[in-house]
Amino acid sequence: MVAKIAIIALPCCTAALLLLSSHLHSPATSLLGILLDLATPSLPFYLLASGNTNSTENHRYRDEYNPFCDDFPPDFPPPDTATVSIFCVDPNGCCSFTTVQAAVNAVPSFSRKRNVVWINKGIYYEKVTVPATKPNITFQGQGFDLTAIAWNDTANSSHGTFYSASVSVFATGFVAKNISFINVAPIPRPGDVGAQAVALRIGGDQAAFWGCGFFGAQDTLHDDRGRHYFKECFIQGSIDFIFGDARSLYENCRVISMADAVPAGVRTITGSVTAHGRESEEEKTGYSFVNCSIGGTGRIWLGRAWRPYSTVVFAYTSMSDIIASEGWNDWNDSSRDQTVFYGEYRCTGDGANLSDRVPYAQKLSDGQVLPYLNTSYIDGDRWLMPYCDSLIFA
Ligand SMILES: *[C@@H]1O[C@H](CO)[C@@H](O)[C@H](O)[C@H]1NC(C)=O
Ligand SMILES: *[C@@H]1O[C@H](CO)[C@@H](O)[C@H](O)[C@H]1NC(C)=O
Ligand SMILES: *[C@@H]1O[C@H](CO)[C@@H](O)[C@H](O)[C@H]1NC(C)=O
Ligand SMILES: *[C@@H]1O[C@H](CO)[C@@H](O)[C@H](O)[C@H]1NC(C)=O
Ligand SMILES: *[C@@H]1O[C@H](CO)[C@@H](O)[C@H](O)[C@H]1NC(C)=O
Ligand SMILES: *[C@@H]1O[C@H](CO)[C@@H](O)[C@H](O)[C@H]1NC(C)=O
Ligand SMILES: *[C@@H]1O[C@H](CO)[C@@H](O)[C@H](O)[C@H]1NC(C)=O
Ligand SMILES: *[C@@H]1O[C@H](CO)[C@@H](O)[C@H](O)[C@H]1NC(C)=O
Ligand SMILES: *[C@@H]1O[C@H](CO)[C@@H](O)[C@H](O)[C@H]1NC(C)=O
Repeated sequence: MVAKIAIIALPCCTAALLLLSSHLHSPATSLLGILLDLATPSLPFYLLASGNTNSTENHRYRDEYNPFCDDFPPDFPPPDTATVSIFCVDPNGCCSFTTVQAAVNAVPSFSRKRNVVWINKGIYYEKVTVPATKPNITFQGQGFDLTAIAWNDTANSSHGTFYSASVSVFATGFVAKNISFINVAPIPRPGDVGAQAVALRIGGDQAAFWGCGFFGAQDTLHDDRGRHYFKECFIQGSIDFIFGDARSLYENCRVISMADAVPAGVRTITGSVTAHGRESEEEKTGYSFVNCSIGGTGRIWLGRAWRPYSTVVFAYTSMSDIIASEGWNDWNDSSRDQTVFYGEYRCTGDGANLSDRVPYAQKLSDGQVLPYLNTSYIDGDRWLMPYCDSLIFA
């Protein structure tokens, strides 16, 4: 019975991956080619859903012969230590769990250890929640172009944008390494209502994302609440695709707009990188982008003021000509011009020309930009562990 599920699930994944590769622009890029091109119909991902996966069941296939486990390390995962527990996920049943949610469910509540959910390469078609009762979880994938969690809820299908995320994290101390979070819902057409589709919602404090991908269109990354660190990540979207009220530092990230292209000379806006939602002066929230790059399609703003004290800084970031010359938007509420904090510092590229920016955009001085430039912005010295901390090798 157990083995049968494994065998049914496999041809299904294989078929889906073959279909995926037929959409690739360049045969040299594997899954990444598709992830970069969500403008193509997302249908191939749906095939993964037809596999008979049961998101709550903990399959254990190791004792039975499974040819797909032949090159799986026999002594993997290593045993738990006093400070680290390992929960191994493999879609072919080569270790303890076949779904990410099943592994999360197995992590003890309020654990003080680091609980590494080691996720083998593959696309996991499931909606995942890390509840507030499960702090200290790490999702360790095998590369953001090889490992992904994908689902396709929208605001309409899930009682609102905030519940549409493919992966929602409410716990403290969450870490993700080398994995992608994808929402494959249909890309909204102009005028569509209720098509917002979040890939990841991070609502827990003290979260770090290393070498991760976030793929979607409208509202891709719900950078909701808490202090967060994003290093060498890839973030794709169209409208407000990094939004929320967190205090976050984005370092060395690639930001790719897939907003609708606009003919030369036309001034229509088709998207916005950020929609930061700081409500009051008392809050300490904001988004800081340091040494990032912005490219892709459309004619977009760097940010728009979802709430009056919206706070966003771009430093040492290259911006292509898709950035509209005015740069920023006050969400049609001119009173916000007095309260937002939109700063730029030593950015480069055709989109970084400050001469036609909205009057409330600030060209930051050396002194003004200092608090935004390193991990002290998110109190990293109190909680941020290096990438190599608790890294598990297969
Ligand atoms: C999933 O697995 C659980 C636990 O084994 C079982 O109770 C449930 O009926 C299964 N659901 C489906 C849809 O197979
Ligand atoms: C686990 O969480 C607790 C409470 O949030 C924290 O004090 C502890 O340092 C964490 N341990 C690790 C290994 O991250
Ligand atoms: C998600 O995909 C499933 C399977 O193809 C489909 O039935 C469902 O309508 C999709 N949901 C949305 C919101 O597009
Ligand atoms: C969302 O639901 C509303 C109300 O039912 C409907 O008018 C709209 O077309 C739906 N949007 C999408 C993208 O399906
Ligand atoms: C994982 O991410 C780190 C941090 O961005 C990067 O240095 C490393 O090369 C990545 N490893 C893989 C296997 O993708
Ligand atoms: C800036 O980002 C690029 C690309 O990610 C990286 O190669 C370079 O080392 C970064 N520079 C610094 C100072 O971190
Ligand atoms: C701002 O006003 C313009 C013109 O009336 C309208 O097209 C746009 O939808 C409004 N934007 C918001 C965020 O309300
Ligand atoms: C910046 O924009 C202004 C106004 O469009 C233009 O005159 C100037 O040449 C631009 N500067 C650069 C460096 O492209
Ligand atoms: C960050 O920059 C500030 C201001 O230059 C400095 O005081 C602080 O020590 C730096 N923090 C780190 C972690 O480098």
